[in-house]
Amino acid sequence: MKRVLCAVMVVGLMSALSLGVSAQIKKGKTRVLTTKQMMAGLVKPNCAGIGEGLKTPPANDQAWADLATKAALLNESSFTMMDDGRCPDADWANASKALRDGSAAVLAKIEAKDAAGAQEAFKAVTGSCAACHKVHKK
Ligand code: HEC
Repeated sequence: MKRVLCAVMVVGLMSALSLGVSAQIKKGKTRVLTTKQMMAGLVKPNCAGIGEGLKTPPANDQAWADLATKAALLNESSFTMMDDGRCPDADWANASKALRDGSAAVLAKIEAKDAAGAQEAFKAVTGSCAACHKVHKK
């Protein structure tokens, strides 16, 4: 009887732990923003906007400034990914760091109005999306 009780407790604890981890990936502990909303409303549009905007070299200062805004917001999203207890493990942390460094490098190239350099640096950004999704996007 004791052994059965013990087994029940272990199974209960394990499911509570796995539930806790998946809840963590989907949302932080206290803030309302879900990961899905952050991806759909912040990460994806800014990432896609940079990809689009670099296909041909930006035509004027306003176009460069728009790209700089997108790169900076994408950089900011890498901090939100790590805040509020959302990060579950080292794969997540490493991908967030790669996104942070990659988007900062893209921004530096944009500020230098170096379209080819920005395009090259952008590869590390898209690589970071893939690295996290491979492990954590179900
Ligand atoms: C640190 C981890 C991580 C990084 C980095 C990351 N994502 Fe995600 N992404 C997720 C997770 C987890 C989900 C699934 C969220 C869910 O459905 O609850 C997701 C979902 C998405 C979705 C689907 C949103 C929806 O409406 O269902 C898109 C689009 C997306 N990510 C784009 C990106 C892009 C573009 C990048 C890189 C610039 C990126 N993500 C980087 C973790 C990450």
